[in-house]
Amino acid sequence: MTPRLGLNIDHVATLREARKATYPCPVAAALLGEIAGAAQITCHIRGDRRHIQDHDLRRLRSTVQTLLNVELAVTDEMLAIALEVAPHRVTLVPERPGEVSTEGGLDVAGHRDAIAAFTAAMVRAGIRVSLFIDPVPEQVQASAIPGVDMVELNTAAYAEGGGALEIERLRQAALLCQQLGVEVAAGHGLTHHNLPELVAAVPEIIEYNIGHAIIGRAVFVGLDQAVRDIGRILVGQAP
Ligand code: PXP
Repeated sequence: MTPRLGLNIDHVATLREARKATYPCPVAAALLGEIAGAAQITCHIRGDRRHIQDHDLRRLRSTVQTLLNVELAVTDEMLAIALEVAPHRVTLVPERPGEVSTEGGLDVAGHRDAIAAFTAAMVRAGIRVSLFIDPVPEQVQASAIPGVDMVELNTAAYAEGGGALEIERLRQAALLCQQLGVEVAAGHGLTHHNLPELVAAVPEIIEYNIGHAIIGRAVFVGLDQAVRDIGRILVGQAP
C-alpha cells in the first residue's frame, strides 16, 4: 500500500511570524498541498506559539478537505484547544520550553497515566490519537493504551545519518506496532534525499509527516512541485 503524506505546514507560519506579518498563510499552503496530493495536513501548536496560532487551527479545521492532524503536548491548555478545534487526529508530543524542534519521542512508559487520561478525553470527543515515540521496544509496548490507534516513530536519528542501524530499529519498532495492532506513522527530519531508502525498507509505515524539508524546497521549486516530488517517492518512483 502506498503510504500517505501528512504535509506539515508549521514553517509557513514560521516565516509569517518572523515578521509578525499576515503572510504567508499556512491555510493557503494546506490547500495547495492537498491539490498536490497530500492526504493529510499536519501542524504543531506549541506553548510559545512560535509558528501556528490558535486562529490558524480554527481556519484549518474549517478548510482542510483531507484530514487534520494536530501535534500538541499533554497539558491542560492543549487539552482544551484539542476539544475546541476537534481535529481528526491529535499526535501527542513532548515539548521542552526553548527547544528548537521536538527533541525526542514521548516517554510514554514514564507518563502513562497522564497520556491515558488525555487519550480517553480525545476518544470521548471522537478525536483519534497518535503518540510520537522513539523507535524503541519499551516505548512501543507502553503505547498500547486503549484509544491509541497509531504511533508516529521518530525518524530524527535516521535523518541525522543513522543509516542501516536506524533503519533496522525503525523496522523492528514498526513490526512490533503491527503485532500490537497499532498503525505506524513516521516523521522528523525526512527529506527527498533520505526518504526513498526508508520507504523501501519499512513498508509497515503507512503515513509520513514531513514539513521542514518540503517547505524549504518549496522556496526554490514551489510548493506544488515540492509536495509532488515527495509523492513520487512514496509510490516508489525515483526522487
Ligand atoms: N512529526 C512530529 C511529531 C514532529 O514534531 C515534527 C516536527 O514538528 C514532524 C513530524 C515534522 O518534522 P520535519 O519538519 O523535520 O519534517
